[in-house]
Amino acid sequence: MKSKNQYELSLMRKSGDILSKVLKLALESIKIGATGIEVDGIATEEIYKLGGDLSYKTVPGYKFATCITVNDEVVHGIPTSRKFENGNLVSIDLAVMYKGWHTDAAWSILIGKDTEKEKFLKVGQEALWDGIAQATPGNRVGDISNAIQTKVEGVGYQVVRSLVGHGVGRSLHEEPEIPGFGQKNTGMILTTGMSLAIEIIYAKGSSDVILDKDGWTFKTADGSWGGLFEMTVIVDKKPEVLTCPQCFA
Ligand code: MF3
Ligand code: CO
Repeated sequence: MKSKNQYELSLMRKSGDILSKVLKLALESIKIGATGIEVDGIATEEIYKLGGDLSYKTVPGYKFATCITVNDEVVHGIPTSRKFENGNLVSIDLAVMYKGWHTDAAWSILIGKDTEKEKFLKVGQEALWDGIAQATPGNRVGDISNAIQTKVEGVGYQVVRSLVGHGVGRSLHEEPEIPGFGQKNTGMILTTGMSLAIEIIYAKGSSDVILDKDGWTFKTADGSWGGLFEMTVIVDKKPEVLTCPQCFA
């Protein structure tokens, strides 16, 4: 992957700025009784209001602004009319396009209170920051992967191996692939100005996933919880996170 120049970076920053605002709003609209379709509608409207466009419309056959996954669903969930319930683990994955530049991010939340589920989410967030901290010039992709794996497996959870982070920019998915597992000091060497979507895709139990009969949604094979955290980051001495001004707190 080539480094972005300052003009390209400014467009990616704007794309990420829109994404951050929309993701915050979408997460706030996840409530008991609300549905994925409603949340997706809110996100779609806000993206257009802020001058962005739907990145996922560049994915053949996909008709929504977001992917929304609940409990044992891991990624690529199609928004549905199923009502959210107390105790649900809900993830929103959202990508935005601005003047042809894509950014991609995801966040997971819990509806209600549950100590074990809160711990599960906290570990995913920590793994995300550990991975992002490795996105510095001279490091390699494997340094990011290894940091993620170390955190997630260190507490006994599993990294999903068949789904990975990726480069992002002119397209939603670009090289390099960024697995959440791997060896330090291996893979592509990172240089300042590369743009990466670092993703933590993990499960409480086995990391085997199966594709649902809807043809999109990946779920854990054993029914255990899935979690998803993702940010678009520019490689730099201090990595620049484009999609998280307040991190949706
Ligand atoms: N953000 C998702 C990813 O990077 C892309 C979802 S593609 C869709 O894996 F078609 F499922 F929306
Ligand atoms: Co992604």
